[in-house]
Amino acid sequence: MKRIGMLTSGGDCQALNAAMRGVVKSLSNSGEDVEIYGFLEGYRGLIYGNFQMLTSKDFSGILTKGGTILGSSRTPFKTIKDPDENGLNKVEAMKQNYYKLRLDCLVVLGGNGTHKTANLLREEGLNVITLPKTIDNDLYGTDMTFGFQSAVNIATDCIDCIHTTASSHGRVFIVEVMGHKVGYLTLNAGMAGGADIILIPEIPYDIKKVAAAIEKRAKNGSKFTILAVAEGAISKEDAALSKKEYKEKMKNYKYPSVSYEIAEKIQEITGKEVRVTVPGHTQRGGSPCPYDRVFASRLGAEAGRLILEGEYGFMVGYKNREIVKVPLADVAGKLKMVEPDSTIIKEAKMLGISFGD
Ligand code: F6P
Repeated sequence: MKRIGMLTSGGDCQALNAAMRGVVKSLSNSGEDVEIYGFLEGYRGLIYGNFQMLTSKDFSGILTKGGTILGSSRTPFKTIKDPDENGLNKVEAMKQNYYKLRLDCLVVLGGNGTHKTANLLREEGLNVITLPKTIDNDLYGTDMTFGFQSAVNIATDCIDCIHTTASSHGRVFIVEVMGHKVGYLTLNAGMAGGADIILIPEIPYDIKKVAAAIEKRAKNGSKFTILAVAEGAISKEDAALSKKEYKEKMKNYKYPSVSYEIAEKIQEITGKEVRVTVPGHTQRGGSPCPYDRVFASRLGAEAGRLILEGEYGFMVGYKNREIVKVPLADVAGKLKMVEPDSTIIKEAKMLGISFGD
């Protein structure tokens, strides 16, 4: 008999359900008796003992379903060791609930912040297995996270739609893509959608170079230009500021997001009409794409195998086309970013894409 706790934490994404289904299917198909305790709304459920007992039937028919059947929430790692508003020690509460239910293992699906807390629980003596979820693909220790490819599809669809209207009106269009402080999503959707300029946090931009790239296209007869801009894109001047100086500057920031600032500056320099489109949370919504369904199922199956063999303290990841187990201690607290001198950036530049650098 295995008693498994499961939770999904942080921003949701596609294929969370597919991944959980993978874990449960691989466990139940092994013939082992399994009891599953689904903690609701992420770590909050584990802290306050809010859970549902689930059976393998609850995981049937959810392969294609977006969101998470367990619900999610953000429980920042920064304050995880602080008592809650009623003085409750959250880490201790999570441990107590784990022991009270006599769990063999806790399966945690999440991104960067989630992994820091998962690693803390491991250090505190709990058996933990994690699965890498995020549309940002910024988790260290894995080449791919589930949710990423689905989000690339959605952001690409958005750029595709903008293409037709941009060409009709001869305008400059900015599509702002999610990704927090990392540019994988923008880079991939931008390349897939044929964006002319891609701005990502890892390559600070010079607005004059961005404007020059637009004017060069116009000179060569292109009536419109499409920019894929990461929500975390940053100018060279801002990148040169200290953290404190940047924070101070952002206190008086007048734009809803970076794309609007870039749009205003492009308009000032080139005199061209600029429009901004922000697909926002649509990028995290809807059904997982086939790649994510397969990928998340494979990760889930491997998590099931590790649980059956009693191998804990790992994230199930993907390296060099293999599903692998990565020690949680090696993952937690590290960010995976686009390398500015990686081959994909070089290739994109060879295709004529400007990064504004
Ligand atoms: O980490 C996933 C993500 O969608 C980021 O791309 C984005 O910056 C953030 O979450 C948005 O967070 P929230 O859903 O809390 O607004």
